[in-house]
Amino acid sequence: MMREPTLLQLAVAQVLQLTPAIRSFVLRNAEGGALPPFAPGAHLGVQVVQPGGSAGLRAYSLARPHAAGDDAYEIAVQCEPQGAGGSAWMHALAPGDALTAHAPRNDFALREGDAAPLLIAGGIGITPLLCMARALAAQGKPFDFFYATRSEASTAYLHEARALGATVVHDGGDPSRGLDLRAVLAHPQPGRHVHLCGPRGMVQAVVDTARAQDWPDDHVHFELFAGAIAQTGDAPFEVRTLRSGKTLTVPPGQSLLDVLIAAGLDPMYDCRQGDCGVCAVDVVEGVPDHRDHNLSPREKAGGKTLCTCVSRAKTPHLVLDI
Ligand code: FES
Repeated sequence: MMREPTLLQLAVAQVLQLTPAIRSFVLRNAEGGALPPFAPGAHLGVQVVQPGGSAGLRAYSLARPHAAGDDAYEIAVQCEPQGAGGSAWMHALAPGDALTAHAPRNDFALREGDAAPLLIAGGIGITPLLCMARALAAQGKPFDFFYATRSEASTAYLHEARALGATVVHDGGDPSRGLDLRAVLAHPQPGRHVHLCGPRGMVQAVVDTARAQDWPDDHVHFELFAGAIAQTGDAPFEVRTLRSGKTLTVPPGQSLLDVLIAAGLDPMYDCRQGDCGVCAVDVVEGVPDHRDHNLSPREKAGGKTLCTCVSRAKTPHLVLDI
């Protein structure tokens, strides 16, 4: 469901190079005073400028839990050279630079049941899990934490994750050498919730393994980061919005939903990862490239509806009834 975002004026207070591709940013309230609170799992919607000057919106998970009176947020951004330019714009920021962001929003809340939560991170998907682990550790609560990356050199927050008790595995780019998911997910218990964020393939593998090992679906919670939604070979496409009369270009690495929001439209959305169906719109012309988990095979084959948060186009143009 659409909620009016609160816009925050922030200033870059600190930039740290965590790995060759990942930088962390501490963003302070440019207007002084405390920033809006959030719970672990929340993300910040940062307004970025893409090559050519077009505006974009990027969701970056908050890496450090909020404490009362905090006037700063911490995020980490992986530079995506094949993306639409938002992460490159972020990496060009230096201390003192200004930016605007939507206030934190949480689509990936930490569920604390009767048993210790299970946290599983892949790559830059560490940020929301690190926030959860930091919060749980600060409260002296137990949790199990697993973190898979390609190599030690590409691992953001490696030492802190280990200090928080994470089992860290490097797969060298071969998922079969990564986490032993059957072992990690061996013991489903009532009230024990899995939280995971990582690349699409890893998320699918965890969800499939959890189902095979009798975890209830409502005990497995995941979030895909922006780079996980993109696919190799994505091309730009043009969208005409029939009722609002706009013609927009959706570049690779940016969602149609974010392009609609950046253009000033007011689309409905909720999960932003193809699960809930709230963002579905009617297609008048063109062929959708469906990437959601919500529409039925029949609806996808019919091609008359599309989830704007993840899906793209197989044709150079789409006309949408919005
Ligand atoms: S916002 Fe949930 S499927 Fe798109």
